[in-house]
Amino acid sequence: MKAVVLESAENPIIVKEVSKPSPGAGEVLVQIKAAALNRRDFWITQGKYAGIKYPTILGADGSGIVTEAGEGGADWMGKEVIINPSHNWGEHAEFQGKDFKILGLPDDGTMAEYVLVKAEYLYPKPTHLDWEQAAAIPLASLTAYRALFTKAHLKKGDKVLIVGVGAGTGTFLLQWAVAAGAQVFVTSGSGDKLDRAKQLGASAGVNYKAQDWAQELKHLAGGFDIVVDSALGPDFAKIPDVCNPGARIVFFGGTAGNIPEINARPLFWKQIQILGTTMGTQEEFKAMLAFVNEHNIVPVVDEIYPLADAKAAFEKMGASKQFGKIVLKIS
Ligand SMILES: NC(=O)c1ccc[n+]([C@@H]2O[C@H](COP(=O)([O-])OP(=O)(O)OC[C@H]3O[C@@H](n4cnc5c(N)ncnc54)[C@H](OP(=O)(O)O)[C@@H]3O)[C@@H](O)[C@H]2O)c1
Repeated sequence: MKAVVLESAENPIIVKEVSKPSPGAGEVLVQIKAAALNRRDFWITQGKYAGIKYPTILGADGSGIVTEAGEGGADWMGKEVIINPSHNWGEHAEFQGKDFKILGLPDDGTMAEYVLVKAEYLYPKPTHLDWEQAAAIPLASLTAYRALFTKAHLKKGDKVLIVGVGAGTGTFLLQWAVAAGAQVFVTSGSGDKLDRAKQLGASAGVNYKAQDWAQELKHLAGGFDIVVDSALGPDFAKIPDVCNPGARIVFFGGTAGNIPEINARPLFWKQIQILGTTMGTQEEFKAMLAFVNEHNIVPVVDEIYPLADAKAAFEKMGASKQFGKIVLKIS
């Protein structure tokens, strides 16, 4: 079968022929129709991720059809599925255990004609979505769902700020928050992406490259009850200033750097919480999928590349040119 293989530090993205795995007890083989990229895959190809292992087939997100099943997986035969890439979460809903892992490192991932997974991580593909839209869902959507609902306790009428809305996670955060009845504001490094966010229901947006982005946001929105910022970097220092009393700031990454030195006073005086989060539980995946189906949410697919052009897809992500998810069409 053909696969996108992380071959070595020098050759991190190679499309090559590898042997097709076969399912053992509790496992199934999914014939992948489409696989989506996440920033995680990009970090791995850059050598900037813990536990890198060569060779590994990349990819956490995929949609496809179950073509072979080991003992206990027969009920899934022939079914159209998506895969929860959040594996071995563990016993505490609040945090993942020490055996937690994400599909696509260390286990072989979805950027291949077939992937081997435990049947417990299969979910029915939403029927209103095509293969590429369905493949866009799992990792980013699960992370966005936990960030907004479990961590920030989003409720109708909240004012929400999403920093860097062009991200794969950013478009899901926007869609979730709008569907839940929040008033959503966004930032982006591109005016075109700000316009596209407005088409998806954002009230307004500002370019984070402008000197006065924080004042402009305050002028537009007053203040925010929830901020999701997984860019971080130096600009994060201004975030507490645009928060309302009792605000929750949630983050799950740091695309633009680390948390800088920040003024502590607004944090304690406004009783602001800064909350870290990562991926989510099986229950959250189920709830997220129910939300997709209930609200007929269609993920934002930026561009679809053939498997053979995986390298170009990764380059686009590296340049942050996308709005939403970059997807590989596999079969
Ligand atoms: N812990 C977890 O479970 C988890 C899960 C998912 C993602 N993550 C992390 O979360 C981050 C986003 O992931 P992703 O896959 O959605 O990434 P992505 O699709 O590659 O998007 C990255 C986006 O970051 C924004 N950005 C870059 N520099 C910025 C800056 N200086 N200020 C504000 N925004 C900036 C850009 O938004 P514009 O294009 O709008 O300018 C860009 O599109 C990554 O760091 C990733 O590793 C973590």
